[in-house]
Amino acid sequence: MSDIKFRQIAETIEARINTGVYPANTKLPPHRVLADELETTPTTVSKAYKLLAEKNKVESFVGRGTFVCGGAELETVIQAPDDNADYNFSILQPCLKHNILPLQAAFQQTYATLPSELLGYIEHSGHLSHRQAGMKWAAEFGLSVLDPDDILLASGAQNALAILIQTYTKPGDCIAVEAFTYPGILSIANLLGRRVVEVAMDSEGMCPTALKDTMLSDKPKVVVIVPSHQNPTGVTMPQGRRESIAKVIAAGNIWLLEDDIYGFLNPSVIPAISNYIPEKSFHITSLSKAISPALRCAFIKAPKSEIRKVGACIRTSIWLASPLNFAVATQLINSGAAFSMANKQKQLAAQRQAFVAELLGFLACSSQPTSYHIWVKLPKNWRQEHFVMEAKNQQLLVSSGGYFSQQSDKSNHIRLSLMAIDDEQRFQQGVVSLANLLQDGQGSHFLF
Ligand SMILES: Cc1ncc(COP(=O)(O)O)c(C=O)c1O
Repeated sequence: MSDIKFRQIAETIEARINTGVYPANTKLPPHRVLADELETTPTTVSKAYKLLAEKNKVESFVGRGTFVCGGAELETVIQAPDDNADYNFSILQPCLKHNILPLQAAFQQTYATLPSELLGYIEHSGHLSHRQAGMKWAAEFGLSVLDPDDILLASGAQNALAILIQTYTKPGDCIAVEAFTYPGILSIANLLGRRVVEVAMDSEGMCPTALKDTMLSDKPKVVVIVPSHQNPTGVTMPQGRRESIAKVIAAGNIWLLEDDIYGFLNPSVIPAISNYIPEKSFHITSLSKAISPALRCAFIKAPKSEIRKVGACIRTSIWLASPLNFAVATQLINSGAAFSMANKQKQLAAQRQAFVAELLGFLACSSQPTSYHIWVKLPKNWRQEHFVMEAKNQQLLVSSGGYFSQQSDKSNHIRLSLMAIDDEQRFQQGVVSLANLLQDGQGSHFLF
């Protein structure tokens, strides 16, 4: 009987960790406090904590207490659509059903004439034709790039970020990020033992003066910026702000990692920040959001002086990103299919944003008319963790604002991703249920 009890308690704690009630790196309540709350004994809580420690969910320190492990953010944040019963507003991916046919065609065409040079190891980190395709893709959306030798290939933007952070920082070094940021960056910093400093943003993105102050106080070695449809706030930096940020970086001792994974969603082209400081910046694009995350195809444009160094890190970690997938990506880019797919997704995003705006207009939301996601400020009577949990009870998967900062209680937001649900009717049903829940606002169904 007591065996069952401590497993139940462990499940309750794990659910709280997974939904952000107990965020990464925070201290769990003392045994006695939790025992009183859950109507059990401190010994049972102790056994539950031990079980969770064996699953690497928590870590105990003599005299300090038990803490939630910090390494599993992405697992928690990205709730893959593995259950058709769920309405997935959590995962930020394109509406895949529109991309399946062109992808099938590109795979068939590429693999029908598979040349042997695609199947072996090569010296450079990427075939020339693949790097040329990367150049074409990035140039279409605002990057100035003329030489394919300035392009490196990575297995997705996440891999590109990890490679660059590893190459340009040491353990203990500081990384500057936007006030709310893509959790993948926090996860890399956690894994590699880098410190993260969050820089203030306004409605145009990272504030140049705040970056300047942070460079003086914390001496970050790199700053990561998502200039278009920022994840999670949806902010797009206008050209003037990009120029001001570039000036601050140009005057300091810092590298820019410009992650422009959502640049293809801009209604008109905005020049990349990297264009103003090509010798101090790395520009990242990826096909994950326009075509499919399964391709794992990303392009890094690096300063000429840094190509060998970054290439060495790519070789050391993965040797080279799969030429087979890059062959398909190249076929899609050169035929123009990739741009048509990107455009189709942008149109759908606009349609879905308009639908959501009608229903959630009573809330303070931040996004662009063509963004994949919306950053929603919750009404006062909802706390973000409770909302995520209650939504989950109703099979609505959303992301807690707590995932996007080191201080998980800095805001009271959720991020809604609008593109993962394939079917329009199902998408609209999900939004209606979300709007009802947001309006309900009492949090009265909260289970714990
Ligand atoms: C800002 C940002 N960068 C990088 C990634 C990861 O992209 P990829 O699938 O290319 O690794 C994401 C995914 O959500 C993202 O939002």
